[in-house]
Amino acid sequence: MEILPKPNSSPYTHNHVLIFPLPAQGHMTPMLHLSELLCLANIKVTFLITTDNHQLLNQHTNVNERFARYPGFRFEAIPQARPNEQPQTLPQGAKAGVLNMIRLITEGLESSAVPILRELLIGSKNVDKVTCFIIDGWLSFAYDIALEAKLAVFAFRCPSACCIWSYICIPHLIQAREVPFKDEEMDELVKNVPGMSSFLRYRDLPSFCRGQDNSSCINLEQFFSDELHRNKNTNGIILNTFEDLEGPILTKIRSQYSKIYPIGPLHAHLKYRLGKENQALSNNSSSSLWEVDQGCISWLDQKPNKSVVYVSFGSIATLTSDQLMEIWAGLVGSNYYFLWVIRPNVIFGDGLDSPTPDELLEGTKKRGYIVKWAPQDEVLAHRAVGGFLTHSGWNSTLESIVAGVPMICWPYFADQPINSRFVSEIWKIGLDMKDTCDRVIVENMINDLMDRRKDELKKSMDQISHLANRSISKGGSSYSYLDHLIEDIKALAMKREL
Ligand code: UDX
Repeated sequence: MEILPKPNSSPYTHNHVLIFPLPAQGHMTPMLHLSELLCLANIKVTFLITTDNHQLLNQHTNVNERFARYPGFRFEAIPQARPNEQPQTLPQGAKAGVLNMIRLITEGLESSAVPILRELLIGSKNVDKVTCFIIDGWLSFAYDIALEAKLAVFAFRCPSACCIWSYICIPHLIQAREVPFKDEEMDELVKNVPGMSSFLRYRDLPSFCRGQDNSSCINLEQFFSDELHRNKNTNGIILNTFEDLEGPILTKIRSQYSKIYPIGPLHAHLKYRLGKENQALSNNSSSSLWEVDQGCISWLDQKPNKSVVYVSFGSIATLTSDQLMEIWAGLVGSNYYFLWVIRPNVIFGDGLDSPTPDELLEGTKKRGYIVKWAPQDEVLAHRAVGGFLTHSGWNSTLESIVAGVPMICWPYFADQPINSRFVSEIWKIGLDMKDTCDRVIVENMINDLMDRRKDELKKSMDQISHLANRSISKGGSSYSYLDHLIEDIKALAMKREL
């Protein structure tokens, strides 16, 4: 029988939070986790979602059953003028012009979302008064409406704190003429990101900084200055990280923003607050926009402990046909078992350029298992998984930390290059394969991860994993910050009523 945690007794009756994520897997998942955490604290939540993503969630998850437990929760759908057979990813080629791509997505969303936001926040739909708005950091247009509605606003930032700090420093890097930089300077140290000057190289900066020239830098500077200004005018910044992991960087961010709430890792935090009695429920809180292939769990069940490399590049990254072949050959050459997620839209261009060599097909038959989408959380927690070859998306990084699985990082874009630098150089819980893709390197790195450097990586990973779990437990830093956030949301609602 399902025993939900006792709702907190609350003197406030009109707490209603509107949550609005960017319509992408890596943004919706943590914001759904946050929604559920707020529901557990008796806060009403309306979650804005595009109709196509809503349909995909209904198709591939138990989202309705999951949220039916909270009478105060509802989805509000935003119509989207595009076919709904695929989850939304950034279009191919996004690596170079990712800011433009984000602009395209947000502009596309803006036209359909603004009328609904106006109705919800200002117009007749605001009967069940929204008292607070939690906005994905990229959705700048939504801030203006929140300001007009005189609402309390919190920005939810999906990336790591180290990435957010580097975003804050981008205007300064441009003024100091560190960006743009030349290809031959990639391995030099960056001078103007305080706190990182001994280890951060140009190649580790967020991908937006690459491929810039003097004129495009003007746009970049403006974009990140506006973002800094907007975030400064919110009631606080919510971050999916924890003090013991990114404490020194969080201190830097506090010098810019008056209030930050590091409440992560959110997936583990939700599990903890749901409690052991509800383990079945929390194990089932998938937010997948793709159909999950559970067959890989039975395959893992048959493998020895820590013998499998799990490979996934998240929901957006694409690979060229050549890159896919190099990684494939490295995996087969390493002679370890591998479970590989190859999304239907993962190959850049028109698919594979040439037929797959027989030795790769044979090697995969013997040691590999390929799925279109995996139950990642369950996979990482499986005793058979010993390493994770990842694109260093922030959710994947946190999930790997909580599960205690060391990583090989092959970052693709945005925050991933800086995440992977921290994973390898600061936290020492993985290896960085950034900017290379060669079968011999892949094979060597897998051998380092699974054998030669296994013990040293596992030792630091176990320590950090322990700190992650401590932070979300009662008395831990993330647990306390979430309590503060809940109190602040409730206090702001009361202030609005007076
Ligand atoms: C993007 C950026 O890459 C990331 O750095 C940013 O912080 C959020 O947006 P994405 O590419 O989706 O995210 O990567 P990631 O943040 O790792 O999120 C992927 C999510 O999909 C994870 O929660 C992961 O568990 C899930 N996933 C991935 C699955 O459930 N199954 C899979 O097969 C692959």
